[in-house]
Amino acid sequence: MVIFIFAIKKIFNMANELLKGKRGIIFGALNDMSIAWKVAERAHEEGAEFVLTNAPIAMRMGEINNLAEKTNSQIIPADATSVEDLTNLFTKSQEILGGKIDFVLHSIGMSPNVRKKKHYTGLNYEWYKQTLDVSAMSLHKTLQVAKEMDAINEWGSVVALTYIAAQRIFPDYNDMADAKSLLESITRSFGYHYGSDKKVRVNTISQSPTITTAGSGVSGFDKFLSYSENMSPLGNAGSIDCANYCISMFSDLTKYVTMQNLFHDGGFSATGVTTAVMDKFGE
Ligand SMILES: NC(=O)c1ccc[n+]([C@@H]2O[C@H](COP(=O)([O-])OP(=O)(O)OC[C@H]3O[C@@H](n4cnc5c(N)ncnc54)[C@H](O)[C@@H]3O)[C@@H](O)[C@H]2O)c1
Repeated sequence: MVIFIFAIKKIFNMANELLKGKRGIIFGALNDMSIAWKVAERAHEEGAEFVLTNAPIAMRMGEINNLAEKTNSQIIPADATSVEDLTNLFTKSQEILGGKIDFVLHSIGMSPNVRKKKHYTGLNYEWYKQTLDVSAMSLHKTLQVAKEMDAINEWGSVVALTYIAAQRIFPDYNDMADAKSLLESITRSFGYHYGSDKKVRVNTISQSPTITTAGSGVSGFDKFLSYSENMSPLGNAGSIDCANYCISMFSDLTKYVTMQNLFHDGGFSATGVTTAVMDKFGE
C-alpha cells in the first residue's frame, strides 16, 4: 500500500507533507497570477495551515476568496505599512491557527512612481517614500511586530521576494530597485538579530521576471522577459518553481539558511553573456 501511494505521488508529482504541522502567514495573493497564490496552493498541498492577508484595497477584487476556499484558510486584511494592522494580523492568526507561526511569505511590491510613469531622475518624493514603505519597510515592520509579540516559533522561516535590480541597474525598474536593496539589507540586519535571539531565519528569494500584475507594471516587460530568457542558461524560472523554492525555505530541510539573498533565476545572475544573445548580433 505504501509503495502504491508513493508511486501515485511520483506519477502525479504530488506533495510530500514537507510543511505538515506548520502554521503560516502568506502576504500578497492578489489573483491567480500572483507568486503568493502559487505559494499558498503549494503550502496547502504540503500540509501547512495558514492565514492569507493582503491590503484591504486589494480585497475588493475578491479573487482571494477563491484561494481561501481552495486552501481551507481564513483571510485577515492588513496594510503591511500599518503596525496596528500587522499587530492585529499576528494576534488573530495565532488564535485562528492555534499557536505560534512557523513561516511568513512577504510578497509585496508597489511603486506609485512606476505606476504613474515618473522617470527615476524626476521622482515624486512622497511617492518614493511610499515605494520604500510598502515594498521594503513593511518587512521590517512585520519582523519587528512578530519579534515583539514573540509570535514566531524557533527555526521559523520568513521569506521575502526580491529582484536582481537590487544589485544591478535595470533602468525601467525605477525606484523599486532602491526598495529591493533596502529589503535585502533589512533581511541581513533583522536576520542577524532574530537569529541570535530567537533562532528565526530571514531570507530573500531573487526571482526571474514573471508575468504577474506587479511584474507587468514595469514598462517594456515583454521584451525584457525575452531578454532575460535568452540570458539564463536554464531559461526564466516560473512562478510555480518559485513557490517550490519558497516551500523548501519554509521546511526544516533548510534550517541553517539565513540572512541570504537566494537567486532563483535560471542562472541569469552569474551569466555574462550567452550564445543565444551573441547570435543576435550576427557574425
Ligand atoms: N513578477 C516579477 O517579475 C517579480 C520578479 C521578482 C520579484 N518579484 C516580487 O514578487 C513579489 C510579488 O509580486 P507578484 O509579481 O506576485 O505581483 P502581485 O501584483 O500579484 O503581488 C504584489 C502584491 O503586493 C500587495 N500589496 C501592495 N501594497 C500592499 C500593502 N500596502 N499591504 C499589503 N500588501 C500590499 C498587492 O495587493 C499584491 O497582492 C513582489 O515583492 C515583487 O516585487 C516579482
